[in-house]
Amino acid sequence: MLLFLTDTAAVSILAQVCLKKMTLTPKVKKEIRESVEQLVQKIMTHSHNGVLGNMYSTGLAMQALTVSGIQWNCRESLKMILDQIPKGTFDLPMTASQIIPSLEGQTYLNVIGLNCSADKDDIIPTPSPPTRPRLIHVRYTISAKVKIFIKGTITVHVPWGSTFFDVMKVAMEKKCKIFRFTYENSSWGPYITSVQGLMADDNQRTYWQLLSGNIPLDRGAGNYIVSDKERLEALTVSGIQWNCRESLKMILDQIHKGTFDLPMAASQIIPSLEGRTYLNVTGLNCSADKDDLDIITTTPSPPTSPPPCICVNYTVSAKVKTFINGTIPVHVPQGSSLFDVMKVAQDKNWNIFRYPAGMANPAYAVGVFGSVGQPAAQGQWGNGPKHCAVS
Ligand SMILES: *[C@@H]1O[C@H](CO)[C@@H](O)[C@H](O)[C@H]1NC(C)=O
Ligand SMILES: *[C@@H]1O[C@H](CO)[C@@H](O)[C@H](O)[C@H]1NC(C)=O
Ligand SMILES: *[C@@H]1O[C@H](CO)[C@@H](O)[C@H](O)[C@H]1NC(C)=O
Ligand SMILES: *[C@@H]1O[C@H](CO)[C@@H](O)[C@H](O)[C@H]1NC(C)=O
Ligand SMILES: *[C@@H]1O[C@H](CO)[C@@H](O)[C@H](O)[C@H]1NC(C)=O
Ligand SMILES: *[C@@H]1O[C@H](CO)[C@@H](O)[C@H](O)[C@H]1NC(C)=O
Repeated sequence: MLLFLTDTAAVSILAQVCLKKMTLTPKVKKEIRESVEQLVQKIMTHSHNGVLGNMYSTGLAMQALTVSGIQWNCRESLKMILDQIPKGTFDLPMTASQIIPSLEGQTYLNVIGLNCSADKDDIIPTPSPPTRPRLIHVRYTISAKVKIFIKGTITVHVPWGSTFFDVMKVAMEKKCKIFRFTYENSSWGPYITSVQGLMADDNQRTYWQLLSGNIPLDRGAGNYIVSDKERLEALTVSGIQWNCRESLKMILDQIHKGTFDLPMAASQIIPSLEGRTYLNVTGLNCSADKDDLDIITTTPSPPTSPPPCICVNYTVSAKVKTFINGTIPVHVPQGSSLFDVMKVAQDKNWNIFRYPAGMANPAYAVGVFGSVGQPAAQGQWGNGPKHCAVS
């Protein structure tokens, strides 16, 4: 599954809609329209209770949905944002800049045309929260398990409305030796660079993660308002500690199933099988390569008896532009690809299951009726939920 980022999609939509104002060929216009439609659908599937993606991507996504002209529940997102503002969620300049256009019914695309002095301040402020006890106390723990062992816990008293960052500063004042930390200012607020001398390290992907009651925060230290009796923690997380063997085993298992048979898919796994990355491809001497991947040759080859026939239900459906919905049971030999299934389905019922002819890469065969989707799970069935009885 490809990682989908709502903010990236939103900026991409804004850019593409901006492009549409230029003189373009009908073909390019059509491609832009289809691409925007797809991204909008994805943003919608990643939305929940007015939150589009996450709280911070909502501002950008609202702008994108506005310029794409589709129907969506704008009020709900606006309400969520207005609820969050008093909590300080959008206090940083960067986070504020992403929501402000939507609060004014504008987007980044019409910022040039704005006349700020004409703006009437008509956003009714939500009533300020009731007064709270002046001081709250929170428990703050630091721990690290990489390179060196660090552990420390302290209870500190801070004024109501303090941030995680304030708590860290108070802890450092009280017990500097244990809770000392360094940070850098960024447009997203303070970024913690070290705690007790242990540095975050971009190369090692080691960073200090902030948690509340064991749940990682969805915002930075300077942007998280703590509450009374909260349990806070700063914990080192290392992206380096991962199970390489496990990934390698999964890849080797999948190779036999044909998952990486396509040149593009193969080219992406081969460096890792050789313990390399794209970054040192320039220094490679292929003739010096010893063929030491004996795992592949020693694994028993699949049985030679003819593969059993399996039955799969193949469904096409679309809800954009036209409505398409059709399902067909298809019998294919085990080991067939999705493309094989599509060919059989097309032969059986051309009207419903036809796909564009002359597709160069069967991995992209999910483009039924010209609407191209994701690569079809690398073109392989195998463990999909759609298997029915083996005949
Ligand atoms: C901006 O709005 C103000 C108030 O409505 C008006 O006086 C001014 O002429 C406008 N400026 C521009 C550049 O449109
Ligand atoms: C970060 O910014 C604050 C406020 O502008 C300033 O007081 C502080 O010294 C800065 N810290 C660093 C590490 O640059
Ligand atoms: C490839 O580059 C990585 C990262 O720089 C390095 O650790 C590794 O040793 C290199 N491998 C070879 C075979 O040069
Ligand atoms: C590549 O490796 C082969 C075999 O080890 C060696 O004979 C050859 O000189 C190497 N070529 C380069 C450019 O290093
Ligand atoms: C598509 O058809 C199937 C079976 O006819 C039906 O169960 C399903 O609800 C339909 N899907 C949509 C989106 O109409
Ligand atoms: C495939 O569709 C047929 C007819 O609707 C149904 O009887 C069968 O259970 C389906 N099989 C699977 C695996 O969904």
